[in-house]
Order: sequence, then C-alpha cells, then structure tokens
Amino acid sequence: MKKRILSGMRPTGKLHLGHLVGALSNWVKLQEAYQCFFMVADWHALMSEYEDPKELDANSFEVARDMLAAGIDPEKSVLFIQSHVPEHLELAMIFNVITPLSWLERCPTYKEQLRDLAGRDLTTYGFLGYPVLQAADIAIYKANAVPVGVDQLPHLELTREIIRRFHGLYKKNIFPEPEPLLTSTPKLAGLDNRKMSKSLGNFIALSDSPDTIEKKVTQMITDPERIRLKDKGHPDICTVFSYYLIFAGVKKDEVRAWCEGAQIGCTECKKRLAGIIIDMLAPVRKKREELTDKKVEEILKEGAGKARKAAAATLDEAKRLINLVPDKYDL
Ligand code: TRP
Ligand code: SF4
Repeated sequence: MKKRILSGMRPTGKLHLGHLVGALSNWVKLQEAYQCFFMVADWHALMSEYEDPKELDANSFEVARDMLAAGIDPEKSVLFIQSHVPEHLELAMIFNVITPLSWLERCPTYKEQLRDLAGRDLTTYGFLGYPVLQAADIAIYKANAVPVGVDQLPHLELTREIIRRFHGLYKKNIFPEPEPLLTSTPKLAGLDNRKMSKSLGNFIALSDSPDTIEKKVTQMITDPERIRLKDKGHPDICTVFSYYLIFAGVKKDEVRAWCEGAQIGCTECKKRLAGIIIDMLAPVRKKREELTDKKVEEILKEGAGKARKAAAATLDEAKRLINLVPDKYDL
C-alpha cells in the first residue's frame, strides 16, 4: 500500500513560477510514490479574503487548471476544491472543541500574518482557527506525510499536537501523525528582486503568453552598476542571474562568464533567459490549452467524489469515538 499525502494551496490568484519551483513540480514527482490528495484550499483563502470574495470561485477554478497543466494527473491523484468536501468542516469542528486557545494564539504564523496583512482585519475567530482547519484537511485523509515549505512547519506541528490530543482524550489512535516532506526548493525572487507576491504583481504566471514572459523578463532588475556593454557585471547581485541559477542547468556557468567578462549585454542576456522560461513552460501552456472548462469541471467533480468517500469514512470513525452517531437516527 502506498503511503498517503495531502497538500493544498490557497487560491489567491494565478499560480506563478514561484509555486512551480517551490511546490508544484515536487507534487508532480510525488504522484508516483504516494497516493496523493491535492486540494485548492478555498476556505483558507476566504479567511483572509472574506471582505472581497468575488473572485473566489474563479480563482479556485483557475488554480485547479494551473495544477493540471503543470502535471497533476487525475488518473494518479485526487484533485479537488476544499469546500466541495464539507466533511473537512465537521472534523475541524471536532478539533475546535479540543484545541486549547493558547496553542493558536502562540502560533508564529498567526502573529506574522496579522502583521504582514495589516491592511485587512484578520482579528476574526475563523482566522485564529486557520491551523485547526488545516489539521482537519490532513487528518481526514489519514495522510502520512504533507509536502510543505518551511513556512508551514508550525502548522504541521500543531496538526500533530491536535491529533495526539484527540488520541489521548478518546483512547484510540485513528490518525497517523503526519510527517512534513520538506524539499530543498530554491527560493525564487520576484522580478524586482523583492519577495514574489500577488499584490506586487512581480511574477511570471504559468498562464502567461510567450510575449508577456518576454516583456516581464525585459523589465527585470539587473546589476545596477552595469550600464554599458563593456562594464563587467556582477551576476551574484543580479535577479536575472538568480533565475538562470534555477532554470538554466549547466548553462549558468556560461552566463557567469558572459556577464563577468562583459561578453554580452543585459538585453541579450534577458532575451536568452526569456527563451529558456518560454520553452520550459511550453508543455504547461499546451496542456492548459487542452483543458477546457468542461474538462476541468469533470475532473473536479470526480475528485470531490473520491475525496468525499475517503473523508466520510474517517469522519464516521471520529464521530463514533465522541459518541456523535447521527446515522442511528435514519435521517
Ligand atoms: N496553509 C497552506 C498554505 O498557505 C494551504 C493549506 C491548507 C494546506 N490546508 C492544507 C497545506 C493542508 C498542506 C496541508 O500554503
Ligand atoms: Fe545580469 Fe545577465 Fe546583465 Fe549579468 S549580463 S548583469 S547576469 S542580466
């Protein structure tokens, strides 16, 4: 039996190169060795976007399409939208009941997010419970492992603590304690060398056209001291070069030589990088074109069906342990 993993992404906008190198390309590989559940975490997005949810459904749908285009294979993995599987919320409610407030208040990501997203009022009951719902997302599939970035480690630790508390209280171990699957993924800077973010718009989306990619790469920040072609460049402080390091394989040594030896100009250097990114995204673009709305809808419907089946079985087990047995009532 293959081990199970679950992971999710919040649909806060189009997926971009940062998602691809940071998570998605790893998910695609994991599909061979694990039984995978991949989820578009729309409830989690709503927790920070509740003041303006008008894009929520469209974003979830496009994120699912991006995931499929990037290589999530519905024949191998279960892909679904979190809110299509209401069982998550019932298990989250069980976890809400047993999770001490202090665990949530001291969670480092909670404090960070309150600070970073200062433009929004996140002092809500729901947002405090963000990691509780995440714990339910994971436990409801009895996931053994969760591929996440280091930023999510506190949430995974909380998941393990909640699971242990559940087991301790109800004297039966029904959930595996999930392990993080950390990959040493490189951190991709934004096009302007700031942190890549939706609000700054400093990214290349997986769905960008070749023209758009070329335009965006042209606008990237380079070594500010390299003005003329004959100026020798410093690749280590150049954002363009940091992209070569991630996307260009052995070619990166060649680029370093071009730059330090003032052999090619920044315009040409960027043009070549754009070519590399355009080629890399060509299969994603092709698959995206094949994925009609109808096809994506079908895949998500089938995914929700499979996910619900697995989730309902676990929920039933958990409810029995706390003596909630609605099925006795033939409702
Ligand atoms: N909190 C995760 C993020 O922001 C998204 C997420 C929701 C998730 N539920 C999850 C990730 C369960 C892993 C497992 O990236
Ligand atoms: Fe950056 Fe390339 Fe210009 Fe060097 S030549 S500064 S690596 S864009």
